[in-house]
Amino acid sequence: MGKIVKLDKLIIERIAAGEVVERPASVVKELIENSIDAEASTIRVELSDAGLKKIRVIDNGVGMDKDDAVKALERYTTSKIKSLEDLYCIKTLGFRGEALASIAAVSRLEIVTRTQNSEIGTRVVAEGGVIKIVEPIGAPIGTTVTVYDLFFNAPARLKFLKSRTVELSHSVDIVTKYALIFPDISFELSNDGTQLISSPQADNILEKIVHIYGTEIARNMIQIDVVSDNLHLYGYVSKPSVTRSTKKAMHVYVNKRFVISNLFHNAILDGYRSMFFRGRYPICVLNLEIDPNEIDVNVHPTKLEVKFKDENKVFHFISEAIREALLSEELEPEVDVERIAEIETSPQTGIQPTQANITRSEQPPVPISSQITPSKPLVQTTLEKTILSIEEISRLTQQYKIPWNIVGQVAKLFIIAYDDENMYIIDQHAAHERILYEKLLSEYESGEIKKQTLLEPILVSFPIREALILKDNLDMLNKLGFEIAPFGEDSFVIRAVPVIMKKVDNMNDLKEFLDELLELEGVKRRKIPSVHEIFALMACKAAIKDNDVLDADMMANLIKEMHSVPKDPYHCPHGRPTILAIPLKKLRRLFKRTA
Ligand SMILES: Nc1ncnc2c1ncn2[C@@H]1O[C@H](COP(=O)(O)OP(=O)(O)O)[C@@H](O)[C@H]1O
Ligand SMILES: [Mg+2]
Repeated sequence: MGKIVKLDKLIIERIAAGEVVERPASVVKELIENSIDAEASTIRVELSDAGLKKIRVIDNGVGMDKDDAVKALERYTTSKIKSLEDLYCIKTLGFRGEALASIAAVSRLEIVTRTQNSEIGTRVVAEGGVIKIVEPIGAPIGTTVTVYDLFFNAPARLKFLKSRTVELSHSVDIVTKYALIFPDISFELSNDGTQLISSPQADNILEKIVHIYGTEIARNMIQIDVVSDNLHLYGYVSKPSVTRSTKKAMHVYVNKRFVISNLFHNAILDGYRSMFFRGRYPICVLNLEIDPNEIDVNVHPTKLEVKFKDENKVFHFISEAIREALLSEELEPEVDVERIAEIETSPQTGIQPTQANITRSEQPPVPISSQITPSKPLVQTTLEKTILSIEEISRLTQQYKIPWNIVGQVAKLFIIAYDDENMYIIDQHAAHERILYEKLLSEYESGEIKKQTLLEPILVSFPIREALILKDNLDMLNKLGFEIAPFGEDSFVIRAVPVIMKKVDNMNDLKEFLDELLELEGVKRRKIPSVHEIFALMACKAAIKDNDVLDADMMANLIKEMHSVPKDPYHCPHGRPTILAIPLKKLRRLFKRTA
């Protein structure tokens, strides 16, 4: 006799259940989705013991009649699609007709439901997937599903659950996500009688953001609402100053179904490119409305994944929509001088305002008179600072036609300048990075990155794995102004570099650049890094460094070029600030000058 036997129906049910029901939060998700599909306007979720003892979802939706309430528990029974064609244009959150069957298979489940057309409701009770009771019962219109003792018959599953706190937080996430994107539905979540989320019906998503994240965050959100080419993206994203260390607050939805989509996340981050640090993530609530024909959500039983037919189109649409919205905001970073002053004068630090930051050096202070010697433009250059004379300041403003007066360089890193309104502190490296980055981008967009042939070709070699990755990326590098060709197994010969990088013309610097290039996330993972990532790195390598002493003209040039950066000069391509503006008004207030 052969070894293969057909599995018994209950075993099949149990295996299938594992795909949909991983933890209490999976149940919460499926039940909420059913309530939303049933057009409920209020959905209440009550948990006991983080959902392990009891998960109850109460809705005021359309309800079910007796027959449907029984059928609903069978696998692959659904009211949401009928034919194969329907599968390609799904408009509801559910469609696979297996959630209730899967949940029932691993719990004791009770449905109490009534439709508008019926005087009396129905109660169905099942245990481990077997229906035990079907009876009439008095009930309000809508459906209440209660799941007791989840995984009572699947002890292995129970072992895989995390702590109560973790399990509860997953359920909080689910309710949060749906509360945010369905403003016209009221959501509540409680555990052991403690209310955790209360998000009443609202007029718009922003009000929901207030319920979930509070007014302070909501005030720092930027609205997105862009339609183009059959795509509609709407919702809110946080200003670059409001970020988190994880992607948890990046709520993304496709046709209001929340999804896990790297493409969507990356497109958003690409929209923010260079506006904040690597490893920081924005808060966002964004829904993409797209023709159901253009996507496939039937990738996995949890319906969390989505595939786009035209990934490039979707990526660019999202990224550009966000970019545009962000750039239309006033994003100039401003120092919170009052807060700095508070820290400096707080009793803990013991620093008095008059002494703040002034340390007495051994050397005698530079006499004031020497700073205004007309004959010497560069009056004072020590290792630490360069201070310009008044004449020099006005020469620069006129010659370079810059709106700021440059005072000088401090700590071989910061340029100090001012105009009638603000005092500016410029990070020379970050600022120069931004300038070079923009130049690269504009050359690239106009079709050609200017290159410079090296006096002598340079040979670099890599460990074999890196060499392979580099080979994969050669085409792209050669499009970006380099001339690099393989030279044997693990070596490469470099004949030209982009003009902007002409400073990087020796083996050590080029090797370092390529090493870092190979470390870029994009190069390592997707193998197709974004041009942005590479330009940011190129700009970084070619820019003025921290510790470079600048003369007056170099400073003026830098400031002049800063002013011609077309978009967002206030951040370097990695997202660090380039300029801090301190309003003179604030400074006056700090020095207790009220007039
Ligand atoms: N809260 C509810 N209100 C009304 N009908 C419901 C509710 N939950 C489930 N149903 C009905 O039960 C069917 C099966 O639900 P489910 O197993 O989740 O599959 P699906 O949602 O994929 O159709 C649904 O198609 C729907 O007709
Ligand atoms: Mg469902």
